Amino acid sequence: MRLDKFLVACGIGSRTEVKLLLKKKTVRVNDSIVTSGKTQVDETADTISYQGQVLGYEQFVYYMLNKPSGVISATEDKAHKTVLDLLDDTAKKKQVFPVGRLDRDTTGLLLMTNNGALAHAMLSPKKHVDKVYEAQIAGLMTPEDVEAFEAGIVLEDFTCQPAKLAIITSDSKKETCLVHITIREGKFHQVKRMVASRGKTVVQLKRLTMGPLKLDDKLALGAYRRLTEKELEALAAFDVLL
Ligand code: URA
Repeated sequence: MRLDKFLVACGIGSRTEVKLLLKKKTVRVNDSIVTSGKTQVDETADTISYQGQVLGYEQFVYYMLNKPSGVISATEDKAHKTVLDLLDDTAKKKQVFPVGRLDRDTTGLLLMTNNGALAHAMLSPKKHVDKVYEAQIAGLMTPEDVEAFEAGIVLEDFTCQPAKLAIITSDSKKETCLVHITIREGKFHQVKRMVASRGKTVVQLKRLTMGPLKLDDKLALGAYRRLTEKELEALAAFDVLL
């Protein structure tokens, strides 16, 4: 395979970043410095190193899971099925874990990886990673609620950062609505608590996006796939892929 493709797959950076790193003579194949990404390598036989560190092929792996309800966002649990139980043997061997948590009854986008630096960056408040949730609500959210979300909802233990509430559909007869809520933090039960503070209840919650990643609508509940090269590039451009 091409050396640049190998380096992107190892999580070293985007294709553009990898090109620069190669120019800076930071990559060796066997004992020679290689500066062209077009160089063909045999990832099973060649020793490829970056800044003196030998790279295992697929040192890091990245999965997008459409988390179903009833499954715990953890890697082990005595009583319940975990999100790791849904993934393949490679994920288990490579000690993949979920990047952040979704409640047991929350569905949707969950990124799983063994790249601790990426997980740390995605969850860091400094990186401002927006998460968009779709929520089915019992009760009608109002323009006043939109303003309150924008101002920062005050909860018992902390004040939320300004959040976006978009009312998608409203059924005044049934007194229900469907909303999209964008938050940057990820405190315990945050969305449910923000909605409850306005006197309404979240009855279903699904995460649609996390930073540059969007839930693939071809993934059924419980299904997963590896991130594509394009998605890895998007994470690198977002400055969270280290
Ligand atoms: N907010 C919640 O209340 N629950 C989740 O699972 C995620 C965000």
